Amino acid sequence: MQIRVAEEVYWVGAIDWNARNFHGYTYATPRGTTYNAYLVRDEKIALVDTVASQFAGEMLGRIRELVDPERIDYIIANHGEIDHSGAIPEVMKLAPQARLVCSRRGVESLGRYIPGDWDFMVVGTGDEISLGRKTLAFIEAPMLHWPDSMFTYIKEEALLLPNDAFGQHLATSQRFADEVNEWVVFDEAARYYANILWPFSPLVLKKIEEVQKMGIEISTIAPSHGVIWRNNPGKIIGAYTRWAKGEARQKVLVVYETMWGSTEKIARALVEGVASEGVETGLYGLPMADRSEVIKELLEAKGILVGSSTHNQRMLLNMAAFLEDLKGLKPTGKIGAAFGSYGWAAKAVQQMEEDLQEAGIDVVEAGLSFKFAPHNEEIKRAFEFGKAFARRVKAAI
Ligand code: FEO
Repeated sequence: MQIRVAEEVYWVGAIDWNARNFHGYTYATPRGTTYNAYLVRDEKIALVDTVASQFAGEMLGRIRELVDPERIDYIIANHGEIDHSGAIPEVMKLAPQARLVCSRRGVESLGRYIPGDWDFMVVGTGDEISLGRKTLAFIEAPMLHWPDSMFTYIKEEALLLPNDAFGQHLATSQRFADEVNEWVVFDEAARYYANILWPFSPLVLKKIEEVQKMGIEISTIAPSHGVIWRNNPGKIIGAYTRWAKGEARQKVLVVYETMWGSTEKIARALVEGVASEGVETGLYGLPMADRSEVIKELLEAKGILVGSSTHNQRMLLNMAAFLEDLKGLKPTGKIGAAFGSYGWAAKAVQQMEEDLQEAGIDVVEAGLSFKFAPHNEEIKRAFEFGKAFARRVKAAI
């Protein structure tokens, strides 16, 4: 079945229904993913991005329905990561004359990941390739999300192919965002932004502004993962703008890890306290709650309270991993505080406060520590702590 994205532009990617993790195990993908490749059929033939190597045969099968793969003149590699470049060597076996088009930094990443004697053609912002009736224009997008990243724009179709930007890890039989449940698409787009693009938010804003200043029309955005944004691409551009600006709701996440239930008791009292102020909240016990899901939830929450028991003078391991992840993602505009229980050395709270600060989260309350198991008065204190924190969140928005 041919899947048309625009006139003589076709989706030729692959659906990875079983993918459950991405980037090693840093990012859970409960809804699978897709690797999107696009074939542009003109006097010259261009393939924009490819798929992970294990799906090369599937992609080539889709291409064969449209053209003989031997006729491919250009392979555009918007980004060197192997979920998009992995199948390039298989295409090159059939079309050894094809030029490999990439950014200056792409020569290095592609040369390392898929070594070969490729005929590189380096392009940058403002460069164009005419395929006959259609023109491919290129926009460099360094650190969105790798140094090599770039966007391809098909002028005559007002079609932007931005690779990872605007993507979602979502396996579905449908190829367009307007064909699937909107909540699901935006939930996955948010998870993708929070877990991959969050550290690059200032660059996201700058790039959106730059593209708007270019005055180019964009009727469709076809990313390299998930579904394609057509009809109303402004909606996902608007969401990216809000996320990059750090716009948040009056919401507090209470994230904890517990040994014998004491830290959990405190966490539950905090949730009650926050909710008593009419502020939305949620309780996330690690490791039952998935780390990348919690990070997605944090994207639009103003506040975060993190808790851990002290064990061997350290915080517990799943909390340590969660905070380590946050330090890399550098969420903007959040406030936080820490809490926890201990037996004889109250260490975890201070460590968590340091990690929150390193992640760029403003620690606005001195942490709550309880010895062994909290008694009723201390549970009441935790409730009041949650209440006070919720008031801070309300005052901050
Ligand atoms: Fe989808 Fe950065 O690879």
